[in-house]
Amino acid sequence: MTQAATYTLEQFYGDLRGVFASVSDPLGRAEGIREHVRRLLKNPEVLEERLDLPEDGGFGRVDLYVDEEYGHPNPGFLVMCSVQRPEQSNIPHDHGASWVVYGVGRGTIEQRKYRWIYPEDNVFDSSPELQELGRYTQNEGDVAYFLPGEIHTTHNVNDGRSLVLRIEAQDLRNVWRHQYEFGGKSGRAYQSST
Ligand SMILES: [Fe+2]
Repeated sequence: MTQAATYTLEQFYGDLRGVFASVSDPLGRAEGIREHVRRLLKNPEVLEERLDLPEDGGFGRVDLYVDEEYGHPNPGFLVMCSVQRPEQSNIPHDHGASWVVYGVGRGTIEQRKYRWIYPEDNVFDSSPELQELGRYTQNEGDVAYFLPGEIHTTHNVNDGRSLVLRIEAQDLRNVWRHQYEFGGKSGRAYQSST
């Protein structure tokens, strides 16, 4: 019996370009890309071979590919890996006018989504609070996307490191977006350099 050929990173980048070329709306693009990430993560060794991580440690980000032609809303979608420490987490944030797809190659992370909630009896002339919408344990091979404006946190709940593949529809470094305090009513605009 012949073995199925490995889905390579280069084929993967080409398939992502194909999604951007054939679909224009962010939901359709995120869903199309999710399918290709699912396929790639069936064989996470492909990522591990490219990253060539040490047995322990190796934390941080590794950029794998930036596309100069396609992206959302501007050109420059980015494929990167985040090698996360145990308990690594962040605070509620969005991705500006862009969106992201997160896939877990190794380990487990917890995703939480948040949204603004207004008092039911006064949804216009009142102040909202940022409340948790739901939690999702994202295991190896699982893929989740976050559309423009969606707010989330990630938390590495694995005992060891987790390897997370992230597709940013536009390289988010130096893009204006927002982060918010937990359960609170305040936020701030920021640009991340990493
Ligand atoms: Fe994020």
